[in-house]
Amino acid sequence: MERIIQINQTSTLYVGRAEELLERVLPEGRTVVITDANIDRLYPNLVRRFEHIIVGQGEVCKSLQTVERVYRELMAMGADRSTFILGIGGGIVTDIAGYVAATYMRGVEFGFVSTTLLGQVDASIGGKNGVNVADYKNMVGTFRHPRFVIADVEMLRTLPKRELRAGMAEIVKSAIIADAELFGRLERCGEAIYDSVEDMQEAMLGAVAVKAHIVKKDEREGGVRRLLNLGHTLGHAIEKCTHEVNHGEAVAIGMSLVAHAAVRRDDLGEDVAERIDKVLMQLGLKLEMPVTMTEMLREVKYDKKKKNNTIRLIVPKRIGKCAVVEMSFEELEQLFK
Ligand SMILES: NC(=O)c1ccc[n+]([C@@H]2O[C@H](COP(=O)([O-])OP(=O)(O)OC[C@H]3O[C@@H](n4cnc5c(N)ncnc54)[C@H](O)[C@@H]3O)[C@@H](O)[C@H]2O)c1
Repeated sequence: MERIIQINQTSTLYVGRAEELLERVLPEGRTVVITDANIDRLYPNLVRRFEHIIVGQGEVCKSLQTVERVYRELMAMGADRSTFILGIGGGIVTDIAGYVAATYMRGVEFGFVSTTLLGQVDASIGGKNGVNVADYKNMVGTFRHPRFVIADVEMLRTLPKRELRAGMAEIVKSAIIADAELFGRLERCGEAIYDSVEDMQEAMLGAVAVKAHIVKKDEREGGVRRLLNLGHTLGHAIEKCTHEVNHGEAVAIGMSLVAHAAVRRDDLGEDVAERIDKVLMQLGLKLEMPVTMTEMLREVKYDKKKKNNTIRLIVPKRIGKCAVVEMSFEELEQLFK
């Protein structure tokens, strides 16, 4: 069934079949699609009825070099300020497409068809678009909402299971931050959730509602939006140490580490930390550390030094409630010794 969620005054999320929804929501005039080769191969009917630009895959391609190549292709096509940019893909594609659209000719209108679970619950929602510079993730970017996001859960059928699990880690994150009921539903469903389009869609909508609510209160990440970084400080550090785990897998490990640190700080009951571990494992996420604690902490320290900021750790207080705790690197290190 089709569902519509208003993300903010200018941006709407449509959940339903992409081809049908595009007919209704695309503005009149010229549309240029930005996508990757996987989506082009799997969904040619969606991509090839538009002029399109293919970008590379993986974090290395989420770069200013790619952005410049896309600008040049747009210029060669004669795209102008009335051209509508449509990003079709996962978080990498939508981050690139959103950044290009926000900056090309000082900004053109854009929309997304989000095709990964992580994209549908997180990357395509909230108006942040950006690319990596050197080894810094999302170092350059813009805040600008797409006119619409289409989340077509049927398209998740072609997504590798590992990518589905990565998206599920972000759903668990949203549940821990602000939705105890969603957490309970995830506990009840376990692995079986991946076999049910309806259950996946309900979980996705729950996580979107959490993100949309938080983003409405804090567009620019000056306060409450920081809660969305639960598991991310440590997760990013793990991702930097090894390519063995993807973003969602690293965030899952980060959430487990932080939950147990919260127990040591007397912020969280041990039984709750164990529930968090259990639900993540039931959803197929591995919690073994792929790197040593020392390696991970070294990366957190290196990052902090380069960015010259305090460490803000998001700490669960109970399921459905988290707090932002500021600490020095030394305090953080003590927590994980
Ligand atoms: N802007 C934000 O607020 C925000 C939030 C969270 C994450 N992100 C970014 O999102 C990126 C990760 O996004 P992701 O996890 O979607 O990864 P991704 O975009 O790399 O997609 C993963 C892989 O799945 C393939 N794929 C996509 N949809 C498919 C489908 N329906 N069927 C088959 N294959 C498909 C892609 O081609 C790619 O190979 C990161 O760069 C991260 O920084 C951004």
